[in-house]
Amino acid sequence: MTPVDSSNQPISRLPLEGKNVVLGVSGSIAAYKAADFTSKLVQTGATVDVILTSSAREFVGKSTFEALTHRPVTTGLWEANSELSIDHVALALRADCLIIAPATANTLAKLAVGISDDPLTATYLATEAPVIVAPAMDADMFASPSNRRNVATLESDGVKIAGPAEGRLASGLVGKGRMVDPEYLVGLVRQAIGRNGDYTGRNVIVSAGGTRQPIDPVRFISNRSTGKMGYAIAEAARDRGANVTLVTAAALPAPAGCDVVSTATVEDMRNVIVPASKNADLLVMAAAISDFSPVNVADSKIKKKDSGTMSLELFKVEDFMPLATGPKLVKVAFAAETNDLEENAQAKAAPKGAAFVVANNVIEPGSGFGTDTNKVTFVDANGVTEPQPIMPKADVAHAILDRALPLLSE
Ligand SMILES: Cc1cc2nc3c(=O)[nH]c(=O)nc-3n(C[C@H](O)[C@H](O)[C@H](O)COP(=O)(O)O)c2cc1C
Repeated sequence: MTPVDSSNQPISRLPLEGKNVVLGVSGSIAAYKAADFTSKLVQTGATVDVILTSSAREFVGKSTFEALTHRPVTTGLWEANSELSIDHVALALRADCLIIAPATANTLAKLAVGISDDPLTATYLATEAPVIVAPAMDADMFASPSNRRNVATLESDGVKIAGPAEGRLASGLVGKGRMVDPEYLVGLVRQAIGRNGDYTGRNVIVSAGGTRQPIDPVRFISNRSTGKMGYAIAEAARDRGANVTLVTAAALPAPAGCDVVSTATVEDMRNVIVPASKNADLLVMAAAISDFSPVNVADSKIKKKDSGTMSLELFKVEDFMPLATGPKLVKVAFAAETNDLEENAQAKAAPKGAAFVVANNVIEPGSGFGTDTNKVTFVDANGVTEPQPIMPKADVAHAILDRALPLLSE
């Protein structure tokens, strides 16, 4: 079976292989979502130890988590033969990350004042690992002065507060109190564990997706880019400690831990990327930027004609990559080609100011738009080529970051 990452893309190396995640589940109605979250965490390759509070056990059973993690689940400090009854801080010491999802108002309050009357709160106090909490509760409970005070205390103690999200709550009311998506939480765990990686402190901008140039209020011209490659680069850079800005024209779910700027046209992307480049270490232009755009954009929908043809006059859009500059900036371009791959890619490197170009033949099987794998060649302005094997896009992303890292300024 091919391993997949949190976005269901195949990968050869699981992102949290060899890492220990402790998941605390407290007694919110959202506890049922913790089973899905556990499964997704296990799929990252992490060893997952689950602690259930006694209230959580009213909502979900121990066996579910034991079956998902293939490990004993902790429910009490005084359980016979449990690891914690012998060494009550064992999980705290082993953890690379502690995440509490869902986190009740009660548990947040106990954490904020340092109460340690169950395995979860004891583990929180004893761990030096990064801690994430995902509150889930009624909107009025979340907004109550005491809960807000507790959340602020935890935040100033260095705890990452994930959410809660707005939406329909178990009460039937709509408000801010939903536990954030398990998929998103997996991204936050990956970011927390990678916080001291080789891209720590680096500002990385990644563009993704295919730009859309309007024809009229309902139509546009675009291309087949799905954004998968750019998102994989953004996630990989995040997992290695970078501060990532993802400038996207794609409709994929926003990866956790990245600043995501949604754009549509080339102009939108230019207006974000050119100024942001001034402070960036690395710009990876994985977006498929439109080369041509309609000369006239109609104010109202162009009417259908019964017969005949219609022509659209297009102008050549100026490439803004040469305008993206900064004192530390290293640039990586992409070249989607269907022929003369290396020559075409080499010709693009110097005008764009790219340290290297990631060239791919988009009509080769397993390569290019929409696929989960890619076969690329790194080409520089001098024509030095480094062909890469066919790889999952997550691995291509890491190969690009590996290639760029030694080029970054001290
Ligand atoms: C049906 C039901 C649903 C509950 N849902 C929530 C919730 O979503 N969030 C919350 O903070 N408390 C919720 N509570 C209250 C907690 O279960 C209660 O405060 C408990 O003491 C929490 O214990 P724990 O933090 O140790 O898990 C709920 C209680 C019941 C009976």
